[in-house]
Amino acid sequence: MTKITIDLGNSIGIIHPNIYGHFAEHIGGVMEDGLWVGEESPVENIRGFRKKLIESFKKINPPIVRWPGGCFAETYDWRDGIGPREKRPVRVNWWYYHDGRLEKNQVGTHEFMDFCRLVGAEPYVAANITSLTPLHIRDWMEYCNFPQGSTTLAKEREANGDAAPFQVKYWGIGNENWGGGGEMTPEMYMQEYIRYSTICRPIWNPAMKFIFCGANGHDVSWTRRIMQEYSSHKYHIIPSYGMSIHYYCGGGECFLKTEEEWYDSMFRAAKMQRIIDDHRAAMDEFDPERKIKLIVDEWGNWHKEGSGPSKGYNLFEQQSTMRNAVVAALTLNIFNNRCDIVDMANVAQLCNNLHSLYLAAGDHLVETPTYHVFDLFKGHQGGQQRPIIYHGDSMQREGYDTLPEISAAASEKDGLLTLTLSNLHMTEEKIIALSAIGGKLQGKAVLSILSHPDVNACNTFENPDTVVPVAREIMLTGENDQIILPPASVAALTIGR
Ligand code: AHR
Repeated sequence: MTKITIDLGNSIGIIHPNIYGHFAEHIGGVMEDGLWVGEESPVENIRGFRKKLIESFKKINPPIVRWPGGCFAETYDWRDGIGPREKRPVRVNWWYYHDGRLEKNQVGTHEFMDFCRLVGAEPYVAANITSLTPLHIRDWMEYCNFPQGSTTLAKEREANGDAAPFQVKYWGIGNENWGGGGEMTPEMYMQEYIRYSTICRPIWNPAMKFIFCGANGHDVSWTRRIMQEYSSHKYHIIPSYGMSIHYYCGGGECFLKTEEEWYDSMFRAAKMQRIIDDHRAAMDEFDPERKIKLIVDEWGNWHKEGSGPSKGYNLFEQQSTMRNAVVAALTLNIFNNRCDIVDMANVAQLCNNLHSLYLAAGDHLVETPTYHVFDLFKGHQGGQQRPIIYHGDSMQREGYDTLPEISAAASEKDGLLTLTLSNLHMTEEKIIALSAIGGKLQGKAVLSILSHPDVNACNTFENPDTVVPVAREIMLTGENDQIILPPASVAALTIGR
């Protein structure tokens, strides 16, 4: 039997709500016929944004949304997205080479800020450093954040509909500058970052948080080299808030055919833990006080495209199956249990793309199994992490760390304990003996389980509720409590304390 013990007397820290962050790029169907339908659309909308999506998204308390890319950010000129929408230019999108679609700039700065307000999320803006100058970025910051009536740009913002500043705190300076963002060396990138952040100095205030471009996956040498370069610059007029890494797992088809593909996904997803630990260790060589935070700007399963409802029209769109739900749960539990290291993480991407929470087209919108994981896990946001002691079976694979068959994380907030679990075994149910040290878990609890006998099960426009959580009340006695996790499942248990 598997034993899970929650240590109620200890904690490594508070789980930053931004670990439950999101990412919405101008790519394929994320915006177009995804989040954005336009004010004139017959699809119900709020100032152009899909109403059903807003209502659903709000329910999971999205803390932050990263925008406008991704790779797209590196050719984006923010001035294309302000002013009357009918007059905005149509441009070649960064992704044009891949899908031939043009960028109509209907969602610009004001629309994005409106979306964030509608769903209650903080905006996180990725600034272009490959093809715009530092002055352009400084202007964008001024446009967004300067007080009403102060500068010409602040007045232009007001003329375009927003008198009050947007107060954008989070600014990413560049995206994937080791790749699509200019194929720079770490030293070259860091010099650019310092140049941009220095020029943006007049706009900076202590609330603003600058994030520099970290590595691709496990490339620790990038981290060491940018940190070395960063440390060689003496002044750091603007302190940096974070370094962002990107890690996608997956590969292969969305609908798996063999057990091997399932376990391959589990090990690849679990590698996130090794990746963040190794990057932090490399950062610690230069930043032992951990002033610079680790951010996972983009994460998720990246399967072959074409499995989503648009059948390949929307670039990178994939279905989200029970496997994606388990990968999401495993990844979020890693972040929960590494909340002393990870300050923010953004799943890629929100709608009609990679590991999406939504699939949409025309009048249709479905919440994917991944959406339900974010819903089940939302109690962790801002919670005091509680360590887990695990006794149970583990899986081994060459080249990977040992992987416990059950992924688990616990936290407490406002008198409520949230325990999230995932059974990584594809075919065996697991009986879990649940206990606590440093306190008791006793009384009425709610156990919600997301599972399906078919690991390829997903929600479609025709059958939107194939994979939905089932919640029931259970009674915990504090002695010999057991819960049963079906194979390939995700669960959340909440209990008052
Ligand atoms: O999420 C899709 C793309 O993946 C992003 O634009 C880019 O940053 C990453 O390579």
